[in-house]
Amino acid sequence: MAAPAPRARPGCPGTLPPHGPGVPPVCLAAAPRPSRCGLWASVLASVCPSVAPKPPLLPSLAELRYGSTVMRLDFVWLRDHCRSASCYNAKTKQRSLDTASVDLGIQPQAVRVDETTLFLTWPDGHVTRYGLEWLARNSYEGQKQQVMHPRILWNAEIYQQAQVPSIDCRSFLETDEGLKEFLQNFLLYGIAFVENVTPTKEDTEILAKRISIIRETIYGRMWYFTSDFSRGDTAYTKLALDRHTDTTYFQEPCGIQVFHCLKHEGTGGRTLLVDGFHAAERVLRQAPEHFELLAKVPLKHEYVENMGGCHNHMIGVGPVLNVYPWNNELYLIRYNNYDRAVFNTVPHDVVRRWYRAHRALTAELRRPDNELWVKLKPGKVLFVDNWRVLHGREAFTGYRQLCGCYLTRDDVLNTARLLGLQA
Ligand SMILES: [Fe+2]
Repeated sequence: MAAPAPRARPGCPGTLPPHGPGVPPVCLAAAPRPSRCGLWASVLASVCPSVAPKPPLLPSLAELRYGSTVMRLDFVWLRDHCRSASCYNAKTKQRSLDTASVDLGIQPQAVRVDETTLFLTWPDGHVTRYGLEWLARNSYEGQKQQVMHPRILWNAEIYQQAQVPSIDCRSFLETDEGLKEFLQNFLLYGIAFVENVTPTKEDTEILAKRISIIRETIYGRMWYFTSDFSRGDTAYTKLALDRHTDTTYFQEPCGIQVFHCLKHEGTGGRTLLVDGFHAAERVLRQAPEHFELLAKVPLKHEYVENMGGCHNHMIGVGPVLNVYPWNNELYLIRYNNYDRAVFNTVPHDVVRRWYRAHRALTAELRRPDNELWVKLKPGKVLFVDNWRVLHGREAFTGYRQLCGCYLTRDDVLNTARLLGLQA
């Protein structure tokens, strides 16, 4: 690790005068500075006599540098995250400490830092130790520099050149290596294939259950359809379907969709796949104000069905682009022009700007070079990340049978984590 030169805040002496009864100076800039890590820490400038209002504020946090990460750690946070056996169950990663019992003005009586560890002694004598590497990773500043979900964004050419292999059904079902390779591909690209599957609904279900609990919805557990107009949704026709994500009209859109074409005697019907995150990323680079608006403005999606015995009225609310606010990382795109409901969640002076932003994203999503067309065949099962990759299809003729299901997202990610993947 590089050793940045220790530095004190300008005007901040090595030690601070006492700033409250029983509160010793805790400016860690004065602490011995290990040469290997080159770490330093100090109480924030707010307590430095040269810049602090008078009377000086009590310090509320510690400033700590580890490698290239400068962390500002609130004392309440440092008390709350204590990893000692009485405060935390390391096996289950569950907190034992009652956070509500922590004084919000808490300050440590003593603070010490060595090459690898921060030690804090609290007013009741309790001692908290933090590994600096852990702090760097888990601090806000550390999280801002990390991605939750490593991904490879793609257009058709990038995906094709990557030559991502399909996983053989037996390997997928019977070996951890096969399953792990499949999940790694799925996490990176948002789509993945299993081949040599017996083309039945039952075998497709066995496949799905290998990685997740099946999410039962208004369409049932395993859905099975032909173009028989048996349901109200456009999917149950032979018409072309423009790119979209499914179940935008659920408060929590389905995480993963499984497709298996069991039979097709006719022409057309290729499946269209578009990486929504790749398109959104391009919008971010070209017009960040569009991206920001799409990430901020909530809108409604709606589905009304009154057909046969099916009576449903679903409404889902959320922005088109959903990002983690601390690092602006996309985690969900909700894009379905068919199911977008009345747009009435912003005042008139935002409406036109939102349409411009939506148009910019749509233009990206419709770029021919972003379109990956695949012909689904019996035996080849496609898994699609419905929070990232849009799907559509061209019109078709003839008899076509398709089956599939939705999976609960948490359980797919759970399986991936248990295999050692970052998910
Ligand atoms: Fe769909």
